[in-house]
Amino acid sequence: MPPTDAVGIAVIDAAERLRSSGSPSPRLDAEVLVAHVTGRDRSWVLAHPEASLGPEVVARLRAVVDRRAAGEPIAYIRGFRDWQSLRIRTDHRALIPRPETELLAEAAITELERRLARDDAPIVAWEVATGTGAVTLAIATRFRQAIRLGRIRLVASDLSPDALELAAENLVDHAATDLVTLACADLLDPAGASLPRPDLVIANLPYVASDEVDARASALGFEPRIALDGGPDGLAVLRRLLADLPSRAARNATVLLEIGVGQAAEIAALGPVGAKVGIVPDLAGLDRVLRLDLQD
Ligand SMILES: C[S@@+](CC[C@H](N)C(=O)[O-])C[C@H]1O[C@@H](n2cnc3c(N)ncnc32)[C@H](O)[C@@H]1O
Repeated sequence: MPPTDAVGIAVIDAAERLRSSGSPSPRLDAEVLVAHVTGRDRSWVLAHPEASLGPEVVARLRAVVDRRAAGEPIAYIRGFRDWQSLRIRTDHRALIPRPETELLAEAAITELERRLARDDAPIVAWEVATGTGAVTLAIATRFRQAIRLGRIRLVASDLSPDALELAAENLVDHAATDLVTLACADLLDPAGASLPRPDLVIANLPYVASDEVDARASALGFEPRIALDGGPDGLAVLRRLLADLPSRAARNATVLLEIGVGQAAEIAALGPVGAKVGIVPDLAGLDRVLRLDLQD
């Protein structure tokens, strides 16, 4: 007979509780949470169903299962999300980086590689609305040397001081503090700081319509509203950024924007006159990154 506080029994009980609270992935969540409170990984949990948890761990498990049953994302409960081979700290201060945002980071890396290969001109790359700093970290860790050599200057900004604080912690975790200029800014307008015009603008701005944010409160309600709410049609913040580009970005700048499914044509139409428009589809063929190349 396994002990009553055995790992296998704890997983079954937690999964049952999460299933009845409406979790879409109760068994997986239960395994991840048991792994979290035991300080092990999921494969250990699966391989040791008879191991005894002990009363302290059982109490901790009950507490985290309660949080998950109330809808809190696993990434907030664990305090991190593994994203693009980086461990990103996550908590209520910023949006949890999504898998689809890896496409934005990859598009930015490809564009920087292209520009580095083209000529020796220094490049200013600016991630607007950095949140946890995940996209900026993907770029900073890929181009450590080019940044140290002064070939790339990397700026990351956000309007939310909370998000910036978390981004700063993530930079420390990855020994990247010296690679990035962090700034508090409303889009490309930094408060009290003077920053160079970007040659490359990268942004995953809020693009969900306010009504939809309300309707999806059970799934999105734990994340900061400022990270999600794009106003009545979802495009209010993007519209302002696009209007600012001619006066704030460098001539011939490239702009890479994560967009919602079905928003490409409408957002492209908001871009500066004459900008060349491109789309980077995701693996499912959905339009997820819009590219604008500004023209003189
Ligand atoms: C969708 S989240 C993206 C976070 C992160 N870049 C990512 O992809 O995980 C949007 C971010 O935009 C920021 N934000 C909202 N309005 C802003 C504004 N006017 N200027 C700068 N940042 C803004 C929020 O604080 C939030 O961090």
